[in-house]
Amino acid sequence: MKGLTLELLAKLKMGKETATFENLKPMLRPGKFQNGAIKINTGKCTGCGLCIQSCPFKCMEIRNKKYPQIKNDAICFSCSNCIVACPEDAISIGQIFCHNENSFFYFGNPPVKMPVNPKNANGDPDKWNEIERIILSRRSVRNFKNNPVPDHLIRRILEAGRFAPSGGNHQPWKFTVVTDPVFIAQMEESCQAFWAEKYSAFKDEQKTIDLFWVTSPGIFDTRTQYGIKCIALKQLPVFFNAPALIFIGGHGCMNDPSMSVGICGENMNIAAASLGLGACWTNFGNAVNYVPDLKSKLGFEEPWKVESVLTLGYPKFKQDGFVARHYRPVTWFRPGSKTPEIEE
Ligand SMILES: Cc1cc2nc3c(=O)[nH]c(=O)nc-3n(C[C@H](O)[C@H](O)[C@H](O)COP(=O)(O)O)c2cc1C
Repeated sequence: MKGLTLELLAKLKMGKETATFENLKPMLRPGKFQNGAIKINTGKCTGCGLCIQSCPFKCMEIRNKKYPQIKNDAICFSCSNCIVACPEDAISIGQIFCHNENSFFYFGNPPVKMPVNPKNANGDPDKWNEIERIILSRRSVRNFKNNPVPDHLIRRILEAGRFAPSGGNHQPWKFTVVTDPVFIAQMEESCQAFWAEKYSAFKDEQKTIDLFWVTSPGIFDTRTQYGIKCIALKQLPVFFNAPALIFIGGHGCMNDPSMSVGICGENMNIAAASLGLGACWTNFGNAVNYVPDLKSKLGFEEPWKVESVLTLGYPKFKQDGFVARHYRPVTWFRPGSKTPEIEE
């Protein structure tokens, strides 16, 4: 991180230094990056387009050639959702998204690895158990069938959330389930308008500084900014036309509610996958917090606020599977170790 540090950001927020566009620029305008890239086996690709549907940003298109290519100005953040959706196994990773080394957002460029195969105590190959397999093969599902999600399954998912661990057993969450398509459409419209307004604000230097006061740095990350642009241009829905939404509220007076809500929501996400459903978080759906009528209709009055939203439904096509993820060396201290052991 060059020029701008978290320490300086804290001082700016406390008013100990003056926030100007210039001193915030490394964060507000992070500049160049290495885009993600995919390789297409043109002998296998049938041009079915499922990879494009599965891509969060719809960052590919089928141009004059019959197979997909990443659009010129699009961002691929290397989630591999295109790879798992391909029925022909025609896609592989070409290059991983990474910020430039001198970027405010750079935190290394670790290699990506597939899940390391399980072994037993003797070091012999073992099998994943059912929970491991669901955790590893779960992917975010953003394409749903129109079929409603039955109440009895939603109730099971809610129970998985209710029994999540929380700091001090505070359980600082509450849930609102919405399956009414009219209400979902209304929220889609409001959240889209919210992000469209933010998208135009980000183009203005002074308005961007104003946003710095009320948001965390990650909102200025190139990938988040691109997501906001896609929503603003209506290329990406906020709630993915899902038939069911679970709003997870956190209680603001409790310790770090977003941490507990994250754990609770992920319990629900895994439970949904185990029940044959698909799910995707949408933090862009948190925009309902800024539309007072919606927030209160959903039942979240201060000090409650929506911490995240889980979209739910039956997957329209296969969107799950094993993928590669960053692998950072792990530091171990075993009994009696004097120095750390770094496992590459
Ligand atoms: C807290 C949180 C918020 C997220 N918000 C969004 C969102 O607003 N829109 C979206 O398309 N995906 C969202 N995602 C899904 C991530 O993009 C996804 O988890 C990531 O790309 C990894 O892909 P995978 O879930 O398929 O493994 C969110 C995930 C988390 C954990």
